[in-house]
Amino acid sequence: MNENRNRVVLITGASSGIGQACANHLHQKGYRVYGTSRQARPHATGISKTEDIHSTAFEMIQMNVDYDDSVAQGVEFILDREGRLDVVVNNAGFGVAGSVEDTTIEEAKSQFETNFFGAVRLCRAALPIMRRQQSGYIVNISSGAGLISIPFQGMYSATKFALEGMTEALHMEVKPFDIHMVLIEPGDFRTKFTANRRKTVASQQNAVYLEKFTASLGVMEADETRGLSPIKIAHILEQIIETPSPRLRYLVGLSSGVAIILKKILPYRLSEWVLMKHYKLL
Ligand SMILES: NC(=O)c1ccc[n+]([C@@H]2O[C@H](COP(=O)([O-])OP(=O)(O)OC[C@H]3O[C@@H](n4cnc5c(N)ncnc54)[C@H](OP(=O)(O)O)[C@@H]3O)[C@@H](O)[C@H]2O)c1
Repeated sequence: MNENRNRVVLITGASSGIGQACANHLHQKGYRVYGTSRQARPHATGISKTEDIHSTAFEMIQMNVDYDDSVAQGVEFILDREGRLDVVVNNAGFGVAGSVEDTTIEEAKSQFETNFFGAVRLCRAALPIMRRQQSGYIVNISSGAGLISIPFQGMYSATKFALEGMTEALHMEVKPFDIHMVLIEPGDFRTKFTANRRKTVASQQNAVYLEKFTASLGVMEADETRGLSPIKIAHILEQIIETPSPRLRYLVGLSSGVAIILKKILPYRLSEWVLMKHYKLL
């Protein structure tokens, strides 16, 4: 507990769901936790504590991972205050729903801006600090959809596949500096992710896909609503940052496990059939 008190943790997207559960849990365990939200009220320095808004006990700072300046400012604020940064959790994200044909380039870019480039921005801001310290953990919250693509979630899946690829490379690059890169791949979890999902404009108008899109989305929403509590991820995160040699990947939740087992053991055509059946495409 006392050792934890000196470890500084930054978690993006801590105003709800997985990020909030992780921030609360690590705060309770004695870590010095900074969570981020776009909604945090700026104060004189442009960064603020927002216990008043989110009534959380950990500290909340304003950060929009879509912008270089916002990420740099947030990291600088923590470094000025604490003089170190031990753990970064790239969690901020959302889902875009719609067939690939019904997703504009702008809609696709906005998905990548947050889910992929947001994590890249924070990795780039944190790495010089961690290299100087010769220690650190960067945990990227991926998804089961980063291992097996979900129909009508093509752009969301693409951001998570990209995150997986980037993290694999970074894992090798920063090993010599004793920096640990980790991927958590959640299955279905009960959070505001479902309510925050953005349907592309054309997906709600294009009759070509509408019926199957609606049916598939209904399955996803039901799976998520019946999903696990995000506290499970918080416990796994704690184990990861307490381990001197964490693995690269941690699958959490049944749906992630099933997805990867299916993809590994079945011929592709068969695993795709199972997926299409599950999402009511057949
Ligand atoms: N729930 C699931 O079943 C599930 C499964 C697999 C993976 N995941 C992944 O888990 C992560 C967390 O999702 P969740 O389920 O906890 O969803 P959530 O309850 O909707 O929380 C999303 C968080 O991300 C933040 N956020 C969104 N866009 C942001 C931006 N541009 N800059 C900074 N923060 C931003 C939100 O904060 P503000 O709006 O306050 O800024 C919020 O705190 C995501 O990366 C998601 O892809 C979730």
